[in-house]
Formats: sequence, C-alpha cells, structure tokens
Amino acid sequence: MKLIILTLTLATAAAFTTPFGVGRASTAISAEASKINTMVDLDSPKVVNQEKLEAGDKKVYCRCWKSGTFPLCDAAHVTHNKETGDNVGPLIVACAKAE
Ligand code: FES
Repeated sequence: MKLIILTLTLATAAAFTTPFGVGRASTAISAEASKINTMVDLDSPKVVNQEKLEAGDKKVYCRCWKSGTFPLCDAAHVTHNKETGDNVGPLIVACAKAE
C-alpha cells in the first residue's frame, strides 16, 4: 500500500512539473513571461493615451510596446521582428486636410 501511495505522489508531482518549477511559482513566472508591456508606465494599472489630430496631421503609433517614444513608433519593432520572427508594426493614422 505504501508503495502505491508513493507512486501516486511521484506521478502527481511529475504531472505538475514544468521547466519553470512546480505549482504556483511556475504560474507566476508564466504570467510574467506572457506580458506584452515590459517598459511603458509599469506602475500604472492601465496605459491609455489620447491625442487630437489636426487636419493634415499624420502620426505613427507603436503597437509592439518596444518604442522608446511610446505611444509613437521609433522603429524598435524592426529589431524585435528580426530577433523573434514576429511580424508586428505600427498603426499609421492620417487626418485629411480640410477643404
Ligand atoms: S516601435 Fe513599436 S510599432 Fe514601431
């Protein structure tokens, strides 16, 4: 009977073992590793930006969260895509000129 219990315990532990460890610690590491934003206003509960465009304006906004000029794109996505094989790029917004 003891052998069966020991076997079940080891099998259960093996089932919950990941490359990051066992149990809750691995869950915390996984959540941290899956964050998209790793550098912009990290103390804020939500990063929100609002801008007004004037007629004839054109802005290029970052969607990779790597820009040093966030929310504007500084082309950091190019390096990110080369390093990771990702395909992210900016959002370009243009406001038509008034007639
Ligand atoms: S730097 Fe993020 S999309 Fe260009």
